[in-house]
Amino acid sequence: MSFRVLGTGSYAPPNVVTNDDLSQFLDTSDEWIQQRVGIKERHFSVNETAADMAAKAAQAAIENSGVDPEEIDLIILATITGETQVPSTACMVQKLLGLKCMALEINAACSAFDFALETVAGYFARGKVRKALVIGTERMSRILDFTDRGTAVIFGDGAGALVLEAGENYIDSVFYVEGNDEVIGCGLPVGNSPYYERGQEKKPLAYMDGQATFKFAVTAIVKDCNTLMERNGLTYDDIAYIVPHQANKRIIDFASKKLKVPDGKFTINIDKCGNTSSASIPMMLDDLNRAGKLKEGDLLLLPAFGGGLASACCLLRW
Ligand code: UT7
Repeated sequence: MSFRVLGTGSYAPPNVVTNDDLSQFLDTSDEWIQQRVGIKERHFSVNETAADMAAKAAQAAIENSGVDPEEIDLIILATITGETQVPSTACMVQKLLGLKCMALEINAACSAFDFALETVAGYFARGKVRKALVIGTERMSRILDFTDRGTAVIFGDGAGALVLEAGENYIDSVFYVEGNDEVIGCGLPVGNSPYYERGQEKKPLAYMDGQATFKFAVTAIVKDCNTLMERNGLTYDDIAYIVPHQANKRIIDFASKKLKVPDGKFTINIDKCGNTSSASIPMMLDDLNRAGKLKEGDLLLLPAFGGGLASACCLLRW
């Protein structure tokens, strides 16, 4: 027993920031960003927290599913950009939704939505929950260094959510973790301990070695997707869509070429929302669902990669 998807929702804050807007204070250009990353614009929150956005995406998913919120027994939320260490963003979303259920959080950076799906599958397998909400939400603008053109131009804010019930549609998954704080990271502020030796702490702003991440990402997508194909006796003709983490359109194009899948099989929405980290896969799923592109029985691959370093891929039947 695993789960099946009953509904999807997403939310992006209303403040749209174009590449030209960023070029006002960064040494960059619309041409460079579109060519090298594939982004035209992204949404940056002015005053909405990761919890606020998550609650809106979750509300939309609940409405889309037609489920009575009282039946939701679990919220699993992926984020790295909450406002507080305690309470978790998951707890704040539970409060905003007026629910009484268990709520917990997962930090696996941009791959976290897949880690959240795997975790929720365990709850369904044990028969512990009737319905569950799985959410990816990121206020990336909260941790971006807006003086660093290598990171500031690629990320965006938003949230995506799925409502799930017990079923057999989560077919297989693969996960990889390689502890490494040099390629991608973000520190936390240090308190005022007189015993804490200063000088080793990381700045509480996102940093990334773009090229190293790019190579890791392409290799991970190809390896993880192929593993699931081989293990389940499938070919890419059997897959309706590959819904990847939206980090850079060129990463997706490279992976698509290496896997020799036809154009259109990899779905893309990075042009209008940037890289929203753990929110990107559920936001993309909601786009596809609301556009009527997903048919019952469709097989989907959800490859993800990022900080950790970590990568993951889930094989899901719609
Ligand atoms: O989601 C989590 C995981 N994250 C990712 O998967 C991101 C992976 N990495 C990337 O998407 C790309 O590496 C970036 C978009 C971050 C950078 O693109 P790139 O094509 O790898 O650029 P680069 O770092 O090789 O830099 C090429 C040139 C450099 O100039 P020089 O040294 O050749 O003169 C950079 O300084 O482009 C320059 N550059 C920029 N120019 C204009 C870097 N960022 C910018 C910018 N605007 N924003």
